[in-house]
Amino acid sequence: MLKTQWDATLYEGKHAFIWQYGEDLLNLLSPEPGERILDLGCGTGQLTAKIAMTGAVVLGIDADPTMLEKARYNYPQLQFAVADARNFQVEQPFDAIFSNATLHWILEKDAVIGCMHQALKPKGRLVAEFGGKGNIKAIAEALLGALEATGCLSPEIQLPWYFPSIGEYTSCLEKHGFEVHYAVLFDRPTPLLDGDTGLANWIQMFTKSILSGLSTEQQTDVIQAVEHRLKPVLYQDGTWIADYRRIRVVAVKE
Ligand code: BEZ
Repeated sequence: MLKTQWDATLYEGKHAFIWQYGEDLLNLLSPEPGERILDLGCGTGQLTAKIAMTGAVVLGIDADPTMLEKARYNYPQLQFAVADARNFQVEQPFDAIFSNATLHWILEKDAVIGCMHQALKPKGRLVAEFGGKGNIKAIAEALLGALEATGCLSPEIQLPWYFPSIGEYTSCLEKHGFEVHYAVLFDRPTPLLDGDTGLANWIQMFTKSILSGLSTEQQTDVIQAVEHRLKPVLYQDGTWIADYRRIRVVAVKE
């Protein structure tokens, strides 16, 4: 899994859209009072808390201790645990797993799907949304182009995301013993906060594993070059709009 040291304050302050859009996914989860639900990749806990408000019993897990520290501070009454989605086990299986904006960070999809399968009761459901095929295509291309143009592209730089098609992901779910009930891929252009600096904030937050290998000056050059490339495409009326594309799935453990 990607080793990103998240900045929980930047995440909460500038990227609230992550869980605000995720609220819609809760309708698909439709939690019942008393159900045991695992929120995989809970971040700072906002959606975990929404699930808990329905009367479900929820555990939020995340690989990043900084995010969980903030989640515990935000919601001291809820249960959170540090766990690696590729390699976790639960003592008691869950009725459902909910995951918003997390699975695209983990390249080892088979390991994650296998863990999710074993963490569910028979007939337990998985409700997930993450970046799908074509997600942030313009941003990713501009980033690679900018790295190359500034002389910062090295062979070890790899984009750290997994954005599958419906066909690829649902086949994988089936291979691991899920029955897929629903899958959709859709564009979700996402306005970024803070006007002119929105894209720079996004790049600093989400491409840390790439930028951390560069000097401060190189980082500035790359970010400016990305902005320059994308301004005609993703900047409208003073706001940057990220070219997000989501995949949503509902699958049931057979
Ligand atoms: C996403 O939510 O789609 C996403 C966020 C950051 C980097 C890549 C994708």
